[in-house]
Amino acid sequence: TDDLGMLKYKGTYFINDLTSVEWLDFIDNLEIRDSDVFLVTYPKSGTIWSQQILSLIFNEGHLRGTESIDNINRVPWIEYNMCNMDFDTRPSPRLFSSHLPYYLMPKDFRNHRCKTIYVYRNPKDVMLSFYHFHKILKGFKKQRSWEEFIDMFMSGKVFAGLWSDHVRGWYTNKKDLDILFITYEEMIKDLRSSVIKISRFVDKMLNDETVDIIVEKATFQNMRHDPLANYTFLSPNNFDFNKGSFLRKGTVGDWKNMMTVAQSEKFDQMFQDKLKVLPIKIFWD
Ligand code: PPS
Repeated sequence: TDDLGMLKYKGTYFINDLTSVEWLDFIDNLEIRDSDVFLVTYPKSGTIWSQQILSLIFNEGHLRGTESIDNINRVPWIEYNMCNMDFDTRPSPRLFSSHLPYYLMPKDFRNHRCKTIYVYRNPKDVMLSFYHFHKILKGFKKQRSWEEFIDMFMSGKVFAGLWSDHVRGWYTNKKDLDILFITYEEMIKDLRSSVIKISRFVDKMLNDETVDIIVEKATFQNMRHDPLANYTFLSPNNFDFNKGSFLRKGTVGDWKNMMTVAQSEKFDQMFQDKLKVLPIKIFWD
């Protein structure tokens, strides 16, 4: 654990209060099933939103009596077992969330071609969302100024490591995976099409009415007020919800209100350079 209260495990930082070396070792040996579905993201890229969508897709709009289950119990994190779940006895298909970089995925993951959905977002909006997130995280020892946080983000001294390493790690291994890449920005632009895209990818054919229900339950406004979706069910020992919330603004381009031209140029230069080998669309403006 470092001075900021972050746990470093095999080269990547984790939220110390929510996991441990023992747990991370344990999940490295987790037995994977072909039917497992993974939702993978870098932090603050639209995970909770996609948890909602994915679990609604599998529960056909939530019509099967799962209305009392919160998002982390529907799509539990593998590296942060906040719901103390026994993954081995969980019925298939198991849905999992993770911020793990590709190289830290459970060893057995490589022996299966599990459906994997990778959601990514303009890193400038990610950075801003991440900055606000640190305010509510009690285990994060020292508040950083925006300038300091930019340096931390750009040097990868944040949970889940350097943003571009995360994207690159998953993207460059895509030929070995059954993976769908989808952006936060396209979900904002057309939520309905995104729901359909994800449902087709996981081989769930939904009728129009079910899609409508899912879209309705996945809007920012509805999720923000949905106590099973807005993460306010997390422990007040770990999170201070007087200082902010997981569902903060839910928009594209908020970074423009925070970053100076100089900060933005420096950021572009560094990340564009790191990702220029990848043919992926990055929403820079
Ligand atoms: S975490 O902590 O890593 O799981 O956070 P994550 O869920 O990946 O990202 C949080 C940001 O996603 C926004 N969000 C949404 N945007 C639009 N619509 C919906 N339904 C939605 N749900 C969550 C959330 O507001 C965070 O972004 P910011 O920019 O901070 O608002």
